[in-house]
Amino acid sequence: MKKVSILLTILIMTLGSFSQQLPNTSLGSLKKLKKTDNGLLIETSFGKAQVTVYSPSVVRIRIVKADFDTDFSYAVISNPEKVNFSILQTKDLVTLATDSLKLEISTQPVRFKFLTPDNRLVNQDDESFGTNWVGDEVTTYKKMQDGEKFIGLGEKTGNLNRRGEAHVNWNTDNPAYQVDDDDLYSTFPFYIGVHHGLSYGIFFDNTYRSIFNFGASNDRFSSFGADGGEMNYYFIFHSQISQILNAYTTLTGRINIPPVWSLGFQQSRWSYFPDTEVLNTARTFREKKIPLDVLYLDIHYMDAYKVFTWHPERFANPAGMLSQLKSMNVHTTVIIDPGIKVEKGYKAYEEGVKQNYFIKYPDGKEYTAQVWPGWCHFPDFTKPVVRKWWGNNFAPMIDAGVEGFWTDMNEIASWGGGFSPSILTLDWEGRFASYRQAKNVYGMQMSRSTYEGTRSLMNGRRPLTLTRASYAGAQRYTSIWTGDNFASDAHMMLGCRLVNSLGLTGMAFSGVDVGGFIGETSARLFGRWISIGAFSPFFRVHKAANENSSEPWSYGEGIENIARNYISLRYRLMPYLYTAFAEAHKTGMPVNRTMVIDNTTDENCWRNEYQQQYMFGPSIMVAPVESNKEITKVYLPHGNWFDFFNGKPYDGNQEIMTECPLEKLPVFVKGGSFIPMQTIVQSTSEKPSDTLFLHVYFGKESSVYHYYEDDGLTYDYEKGTFLESKMSFVAGEKKIVIEPMAAEKYSSKFKTISLVLHGFEPVAGQLKANGKAVQPAATTIDLFNAVYRKDAVSLDSPEMTQKVLVISGLKANEKSEIAW
Ligand code: GLC
Repeated sequence: MKKVSILLTILIMTLGSFSQQLPNTSLGSLKKLKKTDNGLLIETSFGKAQVTVYSPSVVRIRIVKADFDTDFSYAVISNPEKVNFSILQTKDLVTLATDSLKLEISTQPVRFKFLTPDNRLVNQDDESFGTNWVGDEVTTYKKMQDGEKFIGLGEKTGNLNRRGEAHVNWNTDNPAYQVDDDDLYSTFPFYIGVHHGLSYGIFFDNTYRSIFNFGASNDRFSSFGADGGEMNYYFIFHSQISQILNAYTTLTGRINIPPVWSLGFQQSRWSYFPDTEVLNTARTFREKKIPLDVLYLDIHYMDAYKVFTWHPERFANPAGMLSQLKSMNVHTTVIIDPGIKVEKGYKAYEEGVKQNYFIKYPDGKEYTAQVWPGWCHFPDFTKPVVRKWWGNNFAPMIDAGVEGFWTDMNEIASWGGGFSPSILTLDWEGRFASYRQAKNVYGMQMSRSTYEGTRSLMNGRRPLTLTRASYAGAQRYTSIWTGDNFASDAHMMLGCRLVNSLGLTGMAFSGVDVGGFIGETSARLFGRWISIGAFSPFFRVHKAANENSSEPWSYGEGIENIARNYISLRYRLMPYLYTAFAEAHKTGMPVNRTMVIDNTTDENCWRNEYQQQYMFGPSIMVAPVESNKEITKVYLPHGNWFDFFNGKPYDGNQEIMTECPLEKLPVFVKGGSFIPMQTIVQSTSEKPSDTLFLHVYFGKESSVYHYYEDDGLTYDYEKGTFLESKMSFVAGEKKIVIEPMAAEKYSSKFKTISLVLHGFEPVAGQLKANGKAVQPAATTIDLFNAVYRKDAVSLDSPEMTQKVLVISGLKANEKSEIAW
């Protein structure tokens, strides 16, 4: 009897709990509305909201349960502009409108809806949930629009279109990650949504562990949320993705123009040592005529892995070695880890303890975890004095000749899985934050400190900075690589997507470990990967300890030739590449650009089979292909195109089959483009000939190119010491106009221009340069072969050579007009 009544009670309780509802924890109904100088303050029956108009196209939304925190961001560097906007209030609706964007706020309950000025729906909250809390976890739910696609989030695996995916941002050391692993090294909580011909961006500036869901495990909404902190997002509306990127990088900053040598080829190994091996490696590059600009020293250069030290035997005379490298035109980058060895007498340790520079537990004891040197303390890079101290520690290295600084293990990584306790307390610019809030920005602040320190110590010269862990805005301080990848075709293809995706979040200077860091690299894989690497912003071969050698000559003569050719091609393309970096600095347009930036409404560019394709700068399209393929499908979007190597013309808007033997990466050039090239050099310190080879590709539509040049080494460009030359292809008038390559403060290093015309068929006698008839030279060029050897692939091979018309001897510092 007793048993039955207990069972009955349980049953009643269970049924009861089914009919019960959790309390509503979404933003409530409007109670108070206040207009402010640049937006609105809203109080609701549950929670508060703040709307700030940043520009006619950018609106910031902050939502809290109780009170707003002090406003602070490591990512955002711009303030709201003075913007005209109107407010209209009815019982059910508050409407805020700028020239470019309308925000409708329903009042019962408060939900946000963004519209175009002509009332087309861009983005709207899920009506039931809007912004909602579960404990401290805060999430904004957005109604999924019909056919909506999503791109962004930077360093995330998965597809270009993230629809149906969810991603977590929690900076994690994930060696040999799988191609579908989610927990990688960096956090870029920015994405772009596209539907019905409209596009918008959302930047969720919250450093806690965050989750973005684009319809994974649900068919109702997309959402973004974090374990703690405020709902704090910037809504960007523009008709073009390029404009959204411009607005995002107006908020979070843009890359500095890197030292030109860091755009050359970079060779790394865990680790080259002792000094004689480093020098031999450099010498081998020179002997083999494989261009090289940078060598890397991984952890073995240090004494017992102690940062800011040199190993006393392996590198007994660092300055001597560095000056020998310099005499071979090789720049040196060293790895720097945050873990500072706990060791009495070690300067960095003693100073850090004495001055309170290390991360602590709330009871005041330093946090200790194990990394390469054993037990370590970790500098608190969210504390300004610590950043200054850390930065100044580079002085002896810079004096010795180091110019590149590679910050690693900054997630923070430690043995035992990197599970640093949440209770650790960081300074957070004097505001104090738990590790839960600070973890995702630790790497960014380490690279900031490294960049600011080294820049101030290098007498106006540009340092190279590279990081593994990062947060939005880190582009202001550093380049990035995608950590410990694997030697496989799948990883090579993923790497293309990662770099393209990083470019969508401001990180224009990014790359992968070419060849694959972990695992045995096959000769074919290396051959293909190095050719793709030549068309990526950051171009470095790196290999883990205990793996095969991975220098360009390690895979046999055939691969060595392919490597030499592609690396040399990269150096020929340096004027074009450098101009692309200047564009990233000026506008936020990335160097590697997924095809959907320019072809947003072209469904083919979204297809998984073409999702790796990208523009390398404005004019060159790369169609990455696996190492075992000899023939592949490529999609050519709108416009007309040329095969980069053999000049074959194609109409756009079509899929083509193209051969891709190992030596021929499918690369195409857009019709109407300018591609400035120079003669092959062995490093960027070597002067090319004083002729700029300006390749022009015939197009049906007009185009404009802004060639950029500066000294490549200093920050004088910030004071106007650079030149920009406008180059126009005017299809209708059948002319090319090149403005002088000279400015008040800076003149080009090129004295003459050779115009290399692709796909032009001028009527005999009609071609004119500056009004005078000219006879172009009809010649065959070979962009593939660096060294014209008899047994080389492309010598006389129609697949790798092309016929062009050349007009030489144009004066670089004068205006030229070519008509046909
Ligand atoms: C980490 C880095 C890798 C480096 C190694 C040794 O795994 O990601 O690039 O070579 O540490 O420093």
